[in-house]
Amino acid sequence: MTTILDGKKVSITIQDELAEEVRKRNLIGKKKPHLAAILVGDDGASITYVDAKVKACERIGFESTLIKLPEITTEKELITEIQKLNNNISIDGFIVQLPLPNHINEQKIIQTIDPKKDVDGFHPQNVGRMALGLPTFLPATPNGILEILKRYKVNTVGKHCVVIGRSHIVGSPMSILMSQNYYPGNSTVTITHSRTNNLKEICLLADIIIIALGKAEFLTADMVKEGVVIIDVGINRVTDETKKKGYRLVGDVKFDEVAKKSSFITPVPGGVGPMTISSLLMNTMNATKLNNH
Ligand code: GUN
Repeated sequence: MTTILDGKKVSITIQDELAEEVRKRNLIGKKKPHLAAILVGDDGASITYVDAKVKACERIGFESTLIKLPEITTEKELITEIQKLNNNISIDGFIVQLPLPNHINEQKIIQTIDPKKDVDGFHPQNVGRMALGLPTFLPATPNGILEILKRYKVNTVGKHCVVIGRSHIVGSPMSILMSQNYYPGNSTVTITHSRTNNLKEICLLADIIIIALGKAEFLTADMVKEGVVIIDVGINRVTDETKKKGYRLVGDVKFDEVAKKSSFITPVPGGVGPMTISSLLMNTMNATKLNNH
C-alpha cells in the first residue's frame, strides 16, 4: 500500500497551530511575529516562493515585510538593507531569497545576517550548531521534511537513506540531520551528487530516497526497490500547452510509476513545498520568542 505524504494538509495543521499561538499571544499583549524577506531581481520562481511565504504570514496573523530590489542592486546596497533589518527591533527574522544575481557573493550576504534573525538557518554559526546537534534554526526545507516524516511516523531508524544532491539549502543539511542520534534520523546516510558513479545501484539499496536535484522526473521505477520511502524536493516547470500558464509543475521523481513501488511518497506540488513554508513560519515564531518578544 502506498501512503501519499500530504504536505499541504500537514502544513495547514501546522499553520493552524501557529495561528492559535499568535491569538493566545495577542491576548496577553505579546507582539505578532514579524518576518521580512528580501527579493533581488525578477526570477519567476523566486517571486512565486516569496509571495507564498508572505501570504502564509498574513493567513496566520504574522506581520510580514517584503523588500523587492532590482536585479542591478550592488552587493554593498544589499548589505546595507540587511544591516537595516538586523537593527530593526520590530523584525524578528528575515530571509534573503536565493539564488542571488551572479554579481553578488551569496556567502558574503549570508554572513551579514544576524544569526539570531537567520530563520533560514544558513549563517555558518547556525550551520555549525545544526551539525553539532545544538538548538538553532534548522533550514526550512530539511526541517519541513523531518516534520512530515515525524507526523506520518515514518520509521527512519537504522534505515539506509540516500540523499541525491549536495546543495547547502537541502542535500548537505539533510544528510547531516538524517544521520543524527534522534528521531527522525538515526539513518545510515549516503549522500550522492552529479559526480557519483553507479547512482542507480546505490538507489536500489535505499530504504529512503531524498532527492533535490532539479531534474524533471529523473528518478524512475527501475531505480528504486519495493517499499521505498520517497521525498521529492524538486519543483520543475515543464512545457504543457494544455495549461493556462503554458507549463505544469513536476518533481524530480517520475511520480506515477515510482508511487506504485513506494510505501510513502511526497507529491509535487503539495508535498515538500508547503512544508518548507510552514517550517520557516515555525522558525519565525521561535525567533520571536528567543528575541524576548
Ligand atoms: N531558495 C530556494 N529555497 C530557499 C530557501 O529555503 N530559502 C531561501 N532564502 N532561498 C531559497
